[in-house]
Amino acid sequence: MSFFLGNFMNNMLKISLFLLLATLLVPAVSALTAEPPENSQVRKGRRLYNQYCIPCHGREGDGRGDRAKTERLDPAPRDHTNGSYMNMLPDMRLFMVIKFGGRAMNLSQIMPQWGHLLSDEEIVSVIRYVRTLADPPWQPGMAMCRCRLPQGGSGTAGQQNDQKQ
Ligand code: HEC
Repeated sequence: MSFFLGNFMNNMLKISLFLLLATLLVPAVSALTAEPPENSQVRKGRRLYNQYCIPCHGREGDGRGDRAKTERLDPAPRDHTNGSYMNMLPDMRLFMVIKFGGRAMNLSQIMPQWGHLLSDEEIVSVIRYVRTLADPPWQPGMAMCRCRLPQGGSGTAGQQNDQKQ
């Protein structure tokens, strides 16, 4: 009987040691696998984009959202997957368009302003997400030496997209 009890205690000890180790290890491992802040920013941006932007810009960001189709928006919402156009626009340009709307930046007023709804930080996270949509892929600093905006910021690129499709 005492042998049995001893064995039992021994096992309990092993189990509690194991549990202790596991509790210590779990936070360590999850710290290792935690996503870098950049990615959590992108995730937050995706959430906001899905909430506010896809009716026009589409789930894929290609400018073919439901509203774009049913309301035949003209100019078409910008194709955010078009890297050869989007990658030329500096972050600040995107920031201004999103915060103050198309009209404030000489684009179509169909592109609403979001400054009353989204904080600056939220707009930045949306931009981080929009950058992930570009093909060819966007790299930080890409737009830095392109000081002039592509000709026809007022929708020519949208027309080019239409021709492409
Ligand atoms: C009601 C439809 C609509 C919604 C909603 C909308 N957009 Fe737009 N957006 C447009 C249209 C249309 C254009 C193209 C304007 C033009 O070509 O003159 C545009 C253009 C843009 C551009 C291109 C700017 C440039 O310099 O070429 C960006 C970036 C953008 N939108 C981001 C967003 C983001 C981010 C959201 C969500 C927070 C959003 N849009 C929501 C219609 C919309």
